[in-house]
Amino acid sequence: MDKTIGQLREQHRRDYDVYAQTTIAEHLAELADRREKCPVSFSADGGFWVLSSYDDMSSVLRRNNRGFISFPNMPDGSQAFGQKRMIPLEIDGSLHRQYRQILEPFFSPDAVAKLEPRIRRVANDLIDNFIERGRCDFDPEFAFPYPGTTFMALMGWPLEDAAKLTKWVDIFLHGIPGAPQEETDKARAEASAGVHGYVMELIEKRRTNRTDDITSHLLEAEIDGAPIPLEDLFDLFLVMMLAGLDTVQSVLGQSMAYLGRNPDKWAEMFSSPEKLEPAVEELLRWSSPAVPTRNVAAESAKVGDLELPKGERVHCPLGAANRDPKYFEDPDEVKFDRPPKPHLTFGLGAHRCIGVHLARLELKIAFTELHRRIPEFRLADGVEITEHLGLTWGVENVELVFEPGRRENA
Ligand code: HEM
Repeated sequence: MDKTIGQLREQHRRDYDVYAQTTIAEHLAELADRREKCPVSFSADGGFWVLSSYDDMSSVLRRNNRGFISFPNMPDGSQAFGQKRMIPLEIDGSLHRQYRQILEPFFSPDAVAKLEPRIRRVANDLIDNFIERGRCDFDPEFAFPYPGTTFMALMGWPLEDAAKLTKWVDIFLHGIPGAPQEETDKARAEASAGVHGYVMELIEKRRTNRTDDITSHLLEAEIDGAPIPLEDLFDLFLVMMLAGLDTVQSVLGQSMAYLGRNPDKWAEMFSSPEKLEPAVEELLRWSSPAVPTRNVAAESAKVGDLELPKGERVHCPLGAANRDPKYFEDPDEVKFDRPPKPHLTFGLGAHRCIGVHLARLELKIAFTELHRRIPEFRLADGVEITEHLGLTWGVENVELVFEPGRRENA
């Protein structure tokens, strides 16, 4: 007789802490151990299944809309936006396809290529702010503001507002480190109101003064034959901004921390022009910050060797897929000349990252400009880099030192 879900859960139980206070490497080692001993495991803490192999994760993500849906996209089933679904991340089927059709032209390789001069300018403005000092706190001074400002360029929003907006988003996401909870809550509420007010005002201005950018286009777009409601537009903008923020920030931060410890790799990335692209792909594979969750929506669905019933949540820490030795030899090593096996850093299936071309361009420009202006750097003495897990894996305290240079932009 088939096992009940209770029996399956018990038999495969191995609790999993999404917010474990360990390093990313330790967490990946734990997932590697699961891959060997219990590749599909159940965490009673949070009530979700955890995948650990490349094949199982790609199989589940590929079947979005065919047995799986992406709402809620949180392992413990919580809802980031309260009762509302995150657009487009947590909507599926025809509604999701309509949003993707509206958005995709603005994220095509040709469309994002047009942003290149502005992105290069953003990168150099940020480098200008610290180049004369000969050191920088890479995360707040580059990795965080860079994708936020680039997002504003993509949307056609005034770049001079970037510092204000990214500051709000920073507080909204991370609170005020070290401050009492009350102060953080107050600052968070103000930041949230600040972002809301800013974006709503911008939408209002665009209604009367249309321009040829993604914001104006979305104001004219229709879903199910009607304009997108204002609050849904706001949610969509917020999700697009947040989706591209922590992720690019994490890949940049983790990469610069690694490259600071491995200066030969920094030199290798730029030893000839054709080296950069595979190097960026390898750093994306290796740093893999995103951790999507899917939900069984059919009567039941196969996950690994198990048949899970409707409603079960399945968590996909993509970093573990990208370290699966079945496809990546010495998976923990950064090797720029790996045989080209696609990594899962941008996910797969219906919700595969819409910003993939923009993200790759941002990374290429960031590394190129950083290398042009800072050909050699190292990690500052005595600084301890910290790492976090959670809903995006990342690093802090990436203090870099280098030969001081000159500002370039006025
Ligand atoms: C290195 C950088 C990035 C990584 C690693 C990354 C990763 C991902 C992943 C794994 C997903 C799928 C989530 C899921 O299946 O539940 C996703 C979706 C998404 N990403 Fe990215 N992303 C990056 C950059 C960006 C950028 C720059 C943007 C845009 C400004 C962006 C916008 C989005 C959006 C809107 C979605 C939702 C797509 C949908 O639901 O159809 N991402 N991203």
